[in-house]
Amino acid sequence: MTIPRIAIVISTTRATRFGDKPAKWISDIAAKRTDLVSEIIDLRDFPMPFFDEVASNAWVPTTNEVAQRWQKKVAEFDGFIFVTAEYNRGVPAVLKNAIDYAYPEWNRKAAAYVGYGAVGGARSVEQLRLISVELQMAPTRTGVHIQGADFMAAWKEGKDLKDIPHLQQNATDMLDQLVWWTNALKAARERPALATAAE
Ligand SMILES: Cc1cc2nc3c(=O)[nH]c(=O)nc-3n(C[C@H](O)[C@H](O)[C@H](O)COP(=O)(O)O)c2cc1C
Repeated sequence: MTIPRIAIVISTTRATRFGDKPAKWISDIAAKRTDLVSEIIDLRDFPMPFFDEVASNAWVPTTNEVAQRWQKKVAEFDGFIFVTAEYNRGVPAVLKNAIDYAYPEWNRKAAAYVGYGAVGGARSVEQLRLISVELQMAPTRTGVHIQGADFMAAWKEGKDLKDIPHLQQNATDMLDQLVWWTNALKAARERPALATAAE
């Protein structure tokens, strides 16, 4: 079996976002591993309108060309790390919109989460876990939550996330789980008898 491909999704798009910093941090940690290959996907590169199709692409092909490109991009990967803020205790709208613009491309793949904010994006991440179930994804138990003083130091004082050792251990645990689930689901998807069993 080939090494799993993991997308690191930057989930906010505003000009002064913080999201680049945790995405680069987790990408650097992932790059040191030999059991996965990763790529950062930036939602800024997929400027989709608010969902305006006749149905989910689970049932009807999407007409919007950027969304078609997005679906093809999502389809390239075996697992995902959503790097996310929380906006008013919820999933940033631009991320939810992007999620809604794909469906089969998410199915039977694994998902992990790096949240940031006052409480480490925990409320956004918990919502994402529920959404992941509807997408037929397997969410990892462990997420990374950059919170409280760590978040303020990184956000307002420019502290480097790699200088916060407990986050590194946390990231390793999460990536270990992500790789396990990604490999398990990839193996199942690649066995035709299993791949169609639950359809
Ligand atoms: C519209 C909006 C709502 C926010 N709501 C929350 C929130 O509910 N909880 C929280 O911890 N931070 C909240 N924040 C602060 C964000 O944690 C902080 O601005 C963070 O940098 C946002 O991520 P971004 O820079 O990648 O956009 C909010 C920020 C914005 C712009």
